[in-house]
Amino acid sequence: MLNIAVFVSGRGSNFRTVFEKVPKEKINFCAVVSDRIDALAVKFAAENNIPVYFVSNTAKDGFVSYDFLIELFNKKFVNIVLLAGFLKKIPDFFIDAFENKIINIHPALLPEYGGKGMYGLNVHKAVFESSEKFSGATVHFVDKIYDHGKIIAQRKVDISDAKSAEEIAEEVLKIEHELLPFVVEKFADNKIVCENNGVVILD
Ligand code: GAR
Repeated sequence: MLNIAVFVSGRGSNFRTVFEKVPKEKINFCAVVSDRIDALAVKFAAENNIPVYFVSNTAKDGFVSYDFLIELFNKKFVNIVLLAGFLKKIPDFFIDAFENKIINIHPALLPEYGGKGMYGLNVHKAVFESSEKFSGATVHFVDKIYDHGKIIAQRKVDISDAKSAEEIAEEVLKIEHELLPFVVEKFADNKIVCENNGVVILD
């Protein structure tokens, strides 16, 4: 059983797709964490009886700290922290506490189109302006540099017919919804092996 905590900032379609596609007996949603009270993903979590926490770097009523989350996740034996459209930078000490356990989905083929400011539609605008024929999605481990950690898996999509950044976003989101549940289920099955030079996914 994979104990997972999911971080979200908005719509939460990637979180929903993991919730719907990974077999229930393989995964336990320990927590959904958001920096935004109005995130749609939070509503979905609450409707499905998943504990919700709001996190902030500064002390704020109704928000918990990253220190609190470290303690909570250790108590709940969280194996994987999934960033599914979480748009705030995670503090270094939290990354240290969960080395090789935090994963992120990025809507492009890293290492291209990553880094600070590269999130959501900004990524697709940059891809569109460069007239790329392909884009895709990447799931990677999170380290202290934006979009830089070891790549776990990628999927590519032909965007040569796309007429706008929004159309690229739509095509990429479809493959995010295939790639992310695939990777999370592989973690649940213990089929992801982290080696010095990279990551191997076993059949
Ligand atoms: C997704 O496209 C995800 O790849 C992206 O935000 C979107 C969230 O959508 N993440 C980033 O850009 C992180 N750099 P969702 O809330 O519907 O899952």
